[in-house]
Amino acid sequence: MTHRLTIRTPDDWHLHLRDGAMLRAVLPHSTAHFARAIIMPNLVPPVVTSTDATAYRDRILAARPEGSDFTPLMTLYLTENTDPADVAAAHASGLITAVKLYPAGATTNSASGVADFARVQPVLERMAEIGLPLCVHGEVTDPDIDIFDREAVFIDRVLDPLRARVPGLHVVMEHITTARAADYVRSAPTGLAATITTHHLVINRNHILVGGIRPHYYCLPVAKREEHRLALRAAATSGDARFFLGTDSAPHADPAKLQPCGCAGCFTAPNTLPILAHVFEAEGALDRLEAFTSLNGPAFYGLPPNDTHLTLERTAPDIPAQVETDDGPVTVFDPGYPLNWRVA
Ligand code: NCD
Ligand code: ZN
Repeated sequence: MTHRLTIRTPDDWHLHLRDGAMLRAVLPHSTAHFARAIIMPNLVPPVVTSTDATAYRDRILAARPEGSDFTPLMTLYLTENTDPADVAAAHASGLITAVKLYPAGATTNSASGVADFARVQPVLERMAEIGLPLCVHGEVTDPDIDIFDREAVFIDRVLDPLRARVPGLHVVMEHITTARAADYVRSAPTGLAATITTHHLVINRNHILVGGIRPHYYCLPVAKREEHRLALRAAATSGDARFFLGTDSAPHADPAKLQPCGCAGCFTAPNTLPILAHVFEAEGALDRLEAFTSLNGPAFYGLPPNDTHLTLERTAPDIPAQVETDDGPVTVFDPGYPLNWRVA
């Protein structure tokens, strides 16, 4: 039985850090375990221009705990008015690592996202030219489409046509939740990858709805049937370089989640690595954990893996149930079983 596992320091390829007091409260939980993270731009108002991204990056850097050299990899929020020249300049200066596409209305703070894809064609073409990846929230927003089908329908109606219109564009399908998405990613030899969250490896839709409604398991894209959770576990633990970790750790204060209309998002930053060690061990794949957390993501983005290391040891972790913020407590994602691994 393995008792200690040393891997290259992980990166988080999809993270919500928020701003202000929430940023200061949650950031240390990511900097403790991750060297870099792709920072989601869905603030209010969103991070749309390079000026916005510079200011947000500086606020994140200023909020890092003493001694941390965590690197926020910034993104711009794609709107129908995004200027291709501003995007190209932000990429050339090293400010941004990706652009984020939210279909308008798909999730938290996505009202400024894209409705008419023809309007973003020039910026997507420019991104393909300069090798700047597009991170995609892959759900249609059509009210006629069942929420459990929105990812699969997005692939056929939006993503596949978009990739055909912009050949050469590097695309990350984010937080995939279906076997269909995993198969779609496998169908492309290059230029397409997917992030998988911690929580979608643990919960299916029953966890949200059976025996009472559990707001802390509600996130977008919503968790699907068990067969899909199993397909995600197979993809994540396969070692296939097209799949890597994006926690989608998305903190909301409990008063905002425990509402008649509560916010979507699971806060997994504090216990992602203990949970992943548990999942990979259960799948007999501890030797492939490093590929998922620390190697596949940098390879896709053309970055070197981190040259520091992190050790997991077989001891129960000490993780708070909640993290206190000025907006109220944020409940940490509960996998529903005891964890056996901690970060040493
Ligand atoms: C995210 C958030 O709260 O910002 N919520 C979520 O359920 N994942 C938005 C997102 O990534 O869809
Ligand atoms: Zn997200």
